[in-house]
Amino acid sequence: MRVRVHLVPGDAPERAERRGWLGIAIDVLRATTTLSVALANGAHRVVPVAEPSAALALRAADAQALACGERGGRMLPGFDLGNSPFEYAADRVAGRTLAFASTNGSQALIALEGSEARWLGAFVSATALLRALEHAPRVRMVCAGRLGAFALEDAACAGWLCARLAAHGATLDNAAARLVADLAPRDAGEIRRVVESSAHARDLVALGPEYARDVAFCATLDALDHAFTLDATRA
Ligand code: MLT
Repeated sequence: MRVRVHLVPGDAPERAERRGWLGIAIDVLRATTTLSVALANGAHRVVPVAEPSAALALRAADAQALACGERGGRMLPGFDLGNSPFEYAADRVAGRTLAFASTNGSQALIALEGSEARWLGAFVSATALLRALEHAPRVRMVCAGRLGAFALEDAACAGWLCARLAAHGATLDNAAARLVADLAPRDAGEIRRVVESSAHARDLVALGPEYARDVAFCATLDALDHAFTLDATRA
C-alpha cells in the first residue's frame, strides 16, 4: 500500500490524478466526525457542496434533502441542520440526503472527487477505517485544515492513521505522510489532549458549552464501530 497525505485541500492533486486512489477526507472538528455520525444514524446520502446556496438549491430540488452545514461554526439561516454531531440523530437524518456545506470539511471532500471512493476520516471511527483500508493499494488523505491553512487536529488524525498503516507495511509515499506519522498521538489520552488544545477547539469552545461537548466527542477515539464512505457503505 502507498499512502499520501495533503495537509490542506489546496495541495490535493488535479482530478485526473485521483483515479486509482482511495480518498480519505479528514476534518476532525467537526465535519467528517459529524457526517460519520449522520451515516451511522441512517442518513441515505451526503452531497458535499462548497457554497450554502448550492445546499439550498439541492434541497429545493429534492424533497428528501436537508440543507446542512455552517459558517463560523454556526448553522446557516434557513438551514435544517448545522455541524454538530449531536444534531444528526436518527429521527432527523434517517433516509435523508444531506446537502452539506461546511467551511473546510466540504472542501476536503470536494478535493477528493474522482477518487475510487471517499471515506470519512475522524478519530471517532479511526480503527474501523483502518479495517476498511486493509486491501487498498493506494490511499490519499486530504486534511481539511482551516481556511486553507494547516490544522493540528486533522494532521494528528492523518498521522495516527499513517503510523498504523506503516506498522502494517504501508509505504508513506510523500513527505507530509512521513512527517505526520512521526508526530502522531500515541493513544486515546494523547488524541484528546491534541484535539482539545488545537486553535479550532478553542474557537469552538468560545461559542458556548454545546460546542465544548462537540469537541469532547470529536476527540474520542473509536466512539463509533464503523467507518463510512460517501456512498453510505460502511466497514
Ligand atoms: C468546517 O468544515 O470548516 C468545520 O467542520 C467547521 C466547524 O467546526 O463547524
